[in-house]
Amino acid sequence: MDHPFKDEVQKVRPNKHSVHPLILNRWSPRSMTGEELTESELIPLFEAARWAPSSYNNQPWRFLYARKNTASWPLFFNLMIEFNQGWTKNAGALVLVISGKNFEHNNKPCRTHSFDAGAAWMALALEGAGRGLVVHGMEGFDYEKARKDLNIPDDYQVEALVAIGKRAPASKLPEELQKREIPSPRKEAEEIAMEGSFKKKTKANAA
Ligand SMILES: Cc1cc2nc3c(=O)[nH]c(=O)nc-3n(C[C@H](O)[C@H](O)[C@H](O)COP(=O)(O)O)c2cc1C
Repeated sequence: MDHPFKDEVQKVRPNKHSVHPLILNRWSPRSMTGEELTESELIPLFEAARWAPSSYNNQPWRFLYARKNTASWPLFFNLMIEFNQGWTKNAGALVLVISGKNFEHNNKPCRTHSFDAGAAWMALALEGAGRGLVVHGMEGFDYEKARKDLNIPDDYQVEALVAIGKRAPASKLPEELQKREIPSPRKEAEEIAMEGSFKKKTKANAA
């Protein structure tokens, strides 16, 4: 399969170390068409998430979802803060990522359940972005309401909500969000990775 860099990404994300285009091409647009996603459009993203690595292969991630125009949609939509409702009203599906806090094989606490669920969400996001979909993570919602309204047991942690949908032009967004409809830059690799023990690195001393 061909993985060209998207023009919109190339402008702001220089590929200094020849990273795979799938990584740089993923970003979090907000403009979506409002079309609902079918099960067959959504399932491949969960299929990708399945293959994430986890401690003891425990696979603690679970995905609760609501497709647009279904009875579950308002349950999920009403969890969000107004800002997120403003643009996710045009999403095709909303997905809540949760993770089991204990290992299945012995019911003992699993330290890495959130880390593992993070890996699964990234696999889901990459698969979605690779298919040209918007996949946008959110923490702007009521975590306790999510637990209550969606019957999530105490031994699962609510991690994040994800809006997924078909991409639309930026012009479909309100003006203030149009300006933000661009891929963002990142810290340099030299700033976030360090050989040996911890050093407080800043842009200035990264080299
Ligand atoms: C866990 C998580 C929570 C986020 N919460 C929100 C949110 O509530 N609302 C929003 O508009 N964007 C949210 N974002 C999007 C981030 O702002 C975005 O991923 C980040 O700025 C990096 O940009 P990129 O994903 O386009 O590369 C969230 C992203 C993640 C991973």
